[in-house]
Amino acid sequence: MSNYHIKHLEEYFQVYRKSVDNPESFWEEIAEEHFMWRKKWNSVLNWDFTKPAVSWFEGAQLNITENCIDRHLHTRGDKTAILFEPNDPKEEATHISYKELYKRVNKFANVLKAQGISKGDRVCIYLPMIPELAIALLACARIGAIHSVVFAGFSATALATRINDSDCKMVITSDGSYRGAKTIDLKSIVDEGLENCSCVKTVLVAKRINSSINMKEGRDHWLQPLLDDASAECAPEIMNAEDPLFILYTSGSTGMPKGMVHTTGGYMVYTAYTFKNVFQYKEDDVYWCTADIGWITGHSYIVYGPLANGATTVMSEGVPNYPDWGRFWEIVEKHKITQFYTAPTAIRALAKENLSYVETYDLSSLKVLGTVGEPINEEAWHWYNDNIGKKKSPIVDTWWQTETGGIMITPIPFSTPTKPTYATLPFIGIQPALMDENGQEIQGNQVDGRLCIKFPWPSMARTIWGNHQRYKETYFSAFENMYFTGDGALRDEVGYYRITGRVDDVIIVSGHNLGTAPIEDAINEHPAVAESAIVGFPHDIKGNALYGYVILKETGESRDPNNVRKEINQIITEHIGPIAKLDKIQFTSGLPKTRSGKIMRRILRKIASNETENLGDTSTLLNPDVVQEIMDNVL
Ligand code: PRX
Repeated sequence: MSNYHIKHLEEYFQVYRKSVDNPESFWEEIAEEHFMWRKKWNSVLNWDFTKPAVSWFEGAQLNITENCIDRHLHTRGDKTAILFEPNDPKEEATHISYKELYKRVNKFANVLKAQGISKGDRVCIYLPMIPELAIALLACARIGAIHSVVFAGFSATALATRINDSDCKMVITSDGSYRGAKTIDLKSIVDEGLENCSCVKTVLVAKRINSSINMKEGRDHWLQPLLDDASAECAPEIMNAEDPLFILYTSGSTGMPKGMVHTTGGYMVYTAYTFKNVFQYKEDDVYWCTADIGWITGHSYIVYGPLANGATTVMSEGVPNYPDWGRFWEIVEKHKITQFYTAPTAIRALAKENLSYVETYDLSSLKVLGTVGEPINEEAWHWYNDNIGKKKSPIVDTWWQTETGGIMITPIPFSTPTKPTYATLPFIGIQPALMDENGQEIQGNQVDGRLCIKFPWPSMARTIWGNHQRYKETYFSAFENMYFTGDGALRDEVGYYRITGRVDDVIIVSGHNLGTAPIEDAINEHPAVAESAIVGFPHDIKGNALYGYVILKETGESRDPNNVRKEINQIITEHIGPIAKLDKIQFTSGLPKTRSGKIMRRILRKIASNETENLGDTSTLLNPDVVQEIMDNVL
């Protein structure tokens, strides 16, 4: 029996058992049978969570692009690898075959080389969802350069922080991007960011919106003419399994964003294996994940996982409401999408609109629906199940993280019975544990605790770029010998997991991770602000929205509060991006603090969420009176 494709529940349990009882022989078999290696490994797994140090397939050599492209050329050369659906439905979709992808990636790889990029160099990619984005990732991987994609909705300051942290030599961007009816001037954001980045020597610019932009002499180059002149053959750089493939930043509860480092061999094996099973991908399927490649979902399940399986993966440039709220379903009908993977926030936004936007289109091609990024509420789950899946397409509620590289807890469609709001069972090889506050594992079912993972899996991040100590403190110090996810979860009577949300100061807004500290730091730069605290509160569409409590300096108190509110959101937009703007800003004379000076966010969160019946004991606060003032003025 091949363990690569799981087809029923009994098989899931058997394979799961095998993967836990004999992880090394299990993963060795998967890696050996389904991938192309230039040299075999000396050992499958070495690990020590106390250091922490984890390596998979040590000693093996490969290039991930040979697995994602070259090996499909004989069997699937003319098959569509990437199907690009533009922002404007009037513009034609583009089908890029595996043969074409091979050429375009090789040309791009040669351009990178000609511009002085070599193995191990970091390349920042700041592009909209156009084919060049996926091709740029693969071109970096072809020559062993480490890509660091920054979501093109981040501001110039956020971009510069990420470029400097990993010392990128090059930025790949475009003249601009389309977003619904709007255009965004990406190149000028890059120009502004680069004023503070001396490490960047070259900027490659793809043309998308044909706007006139500034090109800095000696630094900036239009991409297309360089591609036109480049050779379509570029020998793949032979990488060690543990060489870094990419860095991707994620917000932490404090300080700088964390540059999670993913390596090559294990990441490839795990993303490919999860893709095959979680989406039950079959040869003629057309798979569409609506995420942006700027996030881990796009890396693992638009680019690497699907291409490693020789799949057709859709890249869509647009937004769900342009030209109208029927756009997603129009695309499903047009390309006969079989697997559709999106975020709960998008489902909630779509569910608010008239059902006629759905009913106009033929969705009968759909076989599997997925969600990712945040907990899905029951109402959204049912709307998705009833109206999109017509109660026949299973919903896979997939729990995972930037740090985990691949899907960790999920149903396997047509095998695992689904249950609304539950991510259900651990994927093959994943050993979750729920921990109590004393650091003990909670056994049995119908329990809740902090979600940890007890044993390594192939696609886990290996470190934080330039800061291994922070990696250790963030993920491996809360519980002994465990990877701590930062999430809370419960396990029901049959052993299904439900993720209950973050237990740290990360807030998930519309599926995006936002740390409170960087937002507070931005607000505090406003000259009239003395101090601030951010919490999340429930929001119909975004899941959570941000609520800011702000103490103004005396000089600020005479100003029009609405102007100050606008300016605060402007500063946040400049420092982080519009995704981090606050929905509500309450001015207050103080913030509830413990005697050691720590802000009691728990109280602020409850007030913002209108849950004031059970505030807990406030008498130990340094300033209990302020709680009443805040409650009286809540927005
Ligand atoms: O809190 C969990 C939530 O998103 C966090 C990870 O965010 P990020 O690194 O941006 O990766 C998102 C895409 C993989 C997790 O710690 N999360 C993700 N998926 C789910 C989820 N919460 C509940 N249910 C999910 N299916």
